[in-house]
Amino acid sequence: MKWAALYGCLLLSYSLVPASCQEDGSGGRERISINKNWKFSRFVSPPDNLSYHSTLRPWILPSANDFLLNGTQFERPEGQAPGHDVNYTQASFDDESWESVNLPHDWAIKGPFKAPGISGGMGRLPINGIGWYRRDLTFSSADAGKSIFLDIDGAMAYSAVWLNGELVGGWPFGYASYRLDLTPYIDLEGPNQLAIRLENALDSSRWYSGAGIYRNVWLVKTNPVHVAQYGTHITTPSVSAEEATVELVVNVENLGEDNQEILVETEVSLVGGRRVGSFEPASVEVASGEKQATNSSLTIENPLLWGPYPLQTPNLYVATTTLSTSDGTVIDRYETTFGIRSLTFDSTRGLLVNGQQVPVRGVNNHHDLGALGAAFNTRAAERQLEELLALGCNALRTSHNPPAPELLDLADRMGFLVMDEAFDVWNQRKTTNDFHRIFPDWHEPDLRAFIRRDINHPSVISWSIGNEIPEQRTAAGGATGRMLYDIVYEEDTTRPVTSGLNNGQPGDSLVNLIDIKSLNYQGEGRGANWRPAFPAFRSAYPNSVIWTTESASTLSTRGAYLFPVTSNNSAIVQEGVGINSTRLEVSAYDLYHPSWAASPDYVFVQQDLHPYVAGEFVWTGWDYIGEPTPYDNAANARSSYFGIIDLAGFRKDRFYLYQARWRPDVPFAHILPHWNWEPERVGEVTPVHVFSSADEAELFVNGESAGRLVQEPATYRFRWDDVTYEPGSLHVVTYKNGEVWAEATKNTTGDATRLEIKADRSKVTADGSDLSFITVSVVDENGETVPDASNSITFSITGPGEIVATDNGSPIDQTPFPSLTRDALAGLALAIVRPSEGELGDIVISAEADGLEGATITLEAV
Ligand code: GAL
Repeated sequence: MKWAALYGCLLLSYSLVPASCQEDGSGGRERISINKNWKFSRFVSPPDNLSYHSTLRPWILPSANDFLLNGTQFERPEGQAPGHDVNYTQASFDDESWESVNLPHDWAIKGPFKAPGISGGMGRLPINGIGWYRRDLTFSSADAGKSIFLDIDGAMAYSAVWLNGELVGGWPFGYASYRLDLTPYIDLEGPNQLAIRLENALDSSRWYSGAGIYRNVWLVKTNPVHVAQYGTHITTPSVSAEEATVELVVNVENLGEDNQEILVETEVSLVGGRRVGSFEPASVEVASGEKQATNSSLTIENPLLWGPYPLQTPNLYVATTTLSTSDGTVIDRYETTFGIRSLTFDSTRGLLVNGQQVPVRGVNNHHDLGALGAAFNTRAAERQLEELLALGCNALRTSHNPPAPELLDLADRMGFLVMDEAFDVWNQRKTTNDFHRIFPDWHEPDLRAFIRRDINHPSVISWSIGNEIPEQRTAAGGATGRMLYDIVYEEDTTRPVTSGLNNGQPGDSLVNLIDIKSLNYQGEGRGANWRPAFPAFRSAYPNSVIWTTESASTLSTRGAYLFPVTSNNSAIVQEGVGINSTRLEVSAYDLYHPSWAASPDYVFVQQDLHPYVAGEFVWTGWDYIGEPTPYDNAANARSSYFGIIDLAGFRKDRFYLYQARWRPDVPFAHILPHWNWEPERVGEVTPVHVFSSADEAELFVNGESAGRLVQEPATYRFRWDDVTYEPGSLHVVTYKNGEVWAEATKNTTGDATRLEIKADRSKVTADGSDLSFITVSVVDENGETVPDASNSITFSITGPGEIVATDNGSPIDQTPFPSLTRDALAGLALAIVRPSEGELGDIVISAEADGLEGATITLEAV
């Protein structure tokens, strides 16, 4: 900033800032991360006289006003807002003894487990209590006259925000992203004390919610006249290979004192590439305190279309909108990333993207990132999606809430389809303190804010207004559904609306209402009667798309094979069937599930019998913290058994069962179980199963053929159920169309002799948030992983980085995640390494275990 320009800005403070202040080319807009340098304290008993439900609600509700179209606008009460007398909101409070933290931060993830009052369902980690976060904000005279907003991408939960002792506002739903206008509370000269209070009740979720400011936080500075929050909306109403029509709405907000005539111009380029065109400039008159929208349309020749991987390419465009005043002064520049694609939902062919049929091969995922908890990290999320792409997965359901904004950026870039979900409950509760407590006040602002935030993502193909809503079958549930459905259509007419149905039936008002009939488990036939509901839905709604929004819910512990193995292709877990309730294991033969669910094999049979079904979202892609079914009540169980991939990111056997179906082009064969059963199974029947994309397979046990099998219709695995165990080797040769396709071997390993270490990426960025995922295997002298090894492994690190967490994928390990010592599970353990910010050089990670040769790896922080 030059002094002359600064002088000009000072003179004009609190009116429109002139061009001379816009030297950075951004038109004056800045988006600044304020993730660093927070102080934090958690209180289990009330540290203040505040509470959302008893004192803060009337003051926080006005934060919702921008998102209320149909309801009352909330008035801020008269008088002094609560909290001005609470010392944590004051600059004078000494927070020296509080913990220093950076965001995103999950206060519960470091444990310890068995937190009082927290069920296995919520992961047994200490999410409850009041959390206070404090940080200084400083401004300069260059900020004079600007609008300054606080953007919180997600805080769990019931946020209330004070600046300099004044209550600014807040937002209770922990999965919502929200903005507060700090401008009236800022002291340009002084340090400004920002204080954020969160409260988390016991019994507030059916899974691990995490706790704290667990997503990114930003300061956004703009001129008073600017593109409004979520102020652009791009649609592509007509798309072909030759040309596409792109429609754009720009919403300009004027928080200045004078009415303004604003010129709106928008250029379009390929992300990272050439400019492709401009929208017709438009001029808008925006009155002080108002918003005004402009519409325009652009034709793009030979567009590069967006489509899901691996069938199509996820091409992206960026629209750069510039606002200028009548004298040509640029006052804002705003970028919107979008994709050009068409979606067709056809009741017989399912989903078509750009006219091409795309079977939905999806998974459900909760928001936690395993040992990192709910604290969002882009690299950890990207790693999850990379594994899912390798699986052949092309779709995500954000069960059961709005995701981190960056997850949708990744989905756009990597080519996933997204069923974007808003709520797990409406008016009727699932747990005592869940969203039902604020549903009447907040459903509208939460739903509108969610849609406006996510509307430009090409990955988002459907809005879900609910999951297994308790009142889904009642007239009241139908009426609530109608209200939510109408809200969605007021915001977006381009995507179908749905809601996950676990027991809704044809004819129910909610079921009649929703555009896609989303069936959880019941489509394939679930529970004891195994009667598929697809035909009943198909005949009642011949013109509607049906898909399965939750399938399988198959349970397994990676590497734990239990005997006998059921001869059915799907079996309900119960004592003696697929589980060991002393060791809290579920058999990794991947045939077992709770009463409402099914194995993948059974789901595939039903999909093949009902080909009009558009696809499925498996429950779940990755294991998650909480909901340790079938051991929900066992004191040690704390994370799920449902994942195709375990909590640490190691593939369960099931990965290959899905890969065989979803990526039939990839030649592979995968043998289970392991072959280290001496002495207990020598001479015992020990079934061998092979997952492969082949159509024939021959198994050799110690060199002798156990038979060549053809993949019969309605079978999805090769089973040799009569094999008798002798140590040695299993070898499978598979064939496709008569030609050898892929082979695999599984040997009885020797004793563990050493550790092997490898990193997912050996070069990491020294930005303080990149991660390297380090896998340690316990191996024998031939380098083969010892499949039943559970050695205790101790990690150490030197150089500019830290080990933030370790894991092994066990749903019952109670060692806190930050521990540097971790028992291997089925021969594997994981360490997550984060390079320090701004420090380059070698990071050396070592792993040691008693009686074994250790291993070391060097990463380069660049
Ligand atoms: C469903 C529910 C999911 C999860 C799943 C486990 O009923 O929607 O959130 O609980 O069961 O099988």
